[in-house]
Amino acid sequence: MGQQQIQLYYKNVMADVIGAEHGITQTQLDELAQMTAPLIAELNRQRRAGKTRYRDLPYHEDYPRQVKAMADAVRGACDNFVVLGIGGSALGNIALQTALNPYLYNLDDRQRKGPRLFVFDNVDPHQLGSFLDWVSDKLDKTIFNVISKSGRTAETAAQMMVLFEMIEKKLGADALKKQVIATTDANEGTLRQIADAAGLRTLEVPDGVGGRFSVLSPVGLLSAAVCGIDIDGLLAGARAMDKRCSEEDFFKNPAALNAAINWHYYNLGKHISVMMPYSHSLKDISDWYRQLWAESLGKTHDVQGKQVFVGPTPVNALGTTDQHSQVQLYREGPNDKLFTFLQVAAFNRDVVIGAAPEVAPELGFLAGQPMSRLLNAEKTATEYALLHDKRPCLTVFFDGICAETVGQFIYLFEVTTSLAGLLFNIDPYDQPAVELGKDATFALMDKPGTEAMAEKIRPVAKIDKTFLI
Ligand code: PA5
Repeated sequence: MGQQQIQLYYKNVMADVIGAEHGITQTQLDELAQMTAPLIAELNRQRRAGKTRYRDLPYHEDYPRQVKAMADAVRGACDNFVVLGIGGSALGNIALQTALNPYLYNLDDRQRKGPRLFVFDNVDPHQLGSFLDWVSDKLDKTIFNVISKSGRTAETAAQMMVLFEMIEKKLGADALKKQVIATTDANEGTLRQIADAAGLRTLEVPDGVGGRFSVLSPVGLLSAAVCGIDIDGLLAGARAMDKRCSEEDFFKNPAALNAAINWHYYNLGKHISVMMPYSHSLKDISDWYRQLWAESLGKTHDVQGKQVFVGPTPVNALGTTDQHSQVQLYREGPNDKLFTFLQVAAFNRDVVIGAAPEVAPELGFLAGQPMSRLLNAEKTATEYALLHDKRPCLTVFFDGICAETVGQFIYLFEVTTSLAGLLFNIDPYDQPAVELGKDATFALMDKPGTEAMAEKIRPVAKIDKTFLI
């Protein structure tokens, strides 16, 4: 069998299926092709000029070599591997683990190919406190991977400071060298300084690659490799998709079609983009996509500096779970959404449904059927129901879930995001709006030098009891 593939299916956005009011006519698709084709060429030019360095990660030879060497050193030396990071420094790690390792990986030693994995991407004291209680007598068998390009991110810094103190107290000042790996900028930044001063082992966050585009770098690859995921397969999948996404013929380029269809629907007033995997393994990859799409495309200004306030709102749902939560709204609420289903042809394992209880012969039709058939039938049924109500639906079909197809998916949506950035005429690689919140947090936490900001926040920080009921 050849390499497993993913494919984008776009018939169910066409006017022939859902009518001309909500569907895309062939003429409109041809217009989208004309408009997008030069942007594919432009993106290819930007790549050659070194402006989209994430696109070259699948070809990097040093990163996978360094990651594998580190993973080999770590695997035998720990029972637990803990990632401390947030946003682009965490979501890819979580997505890869959920997609490519068994559901009960952390609980069942027989299903694990490496240490248990925990990813902390918050500063919730209840959550972290519970983990600290559990890990405090296992620190010598636990490796912490602190991931931060800057090292100034308050959440990651706070988690790191809690853990460093605990490790030093329990295992001695020198233990950080053994128990901690820092993934950060090669030359500068707070975490680089900390790592150098403490003599930590380090891996590099590549220069010119934003957090949300960094999963195929040491940022996402180390925890994956440590936990037995085939990182060569991931990168091979990404390379295969790179060929398809570099294709300047619009109709052969899945990223171009995906970006253009999304852009078209945004302009038609469908501002919500729902990703709905019918596979628990792909649940967290839609979370990864949610950040990529929102942080990249939600912008106040276009590249000429004109105020535009654009950005589709990504929403995740899970099939079949959210059929019993969201689908009522999706069918009968406003027709303001584009749906992207993720569907798997062959699951890595299946479960056969048992016999129907004698008193419930009406359940007999399910007996003996593979559960995957039910899951995929529910996807088709939901799509059928949505199409009945003229809701546009895309599907990404996975032959199966493996490192290669997950690598393809990641790369497809990264390039889709870049092309959507060109269509929306905004910079998809910055996130200026996130910065104000970061600075306000520093002020609220009394960071020296932030007094002016603290003054500005005071009216919001003070609860006005007149409005409290
Ligand atoms: O995509 C991004 O750039 C962000 O989500 C960052 O990854 C996130 O803010 C964490 O930043 P840092 O790696 O500097 O801690």
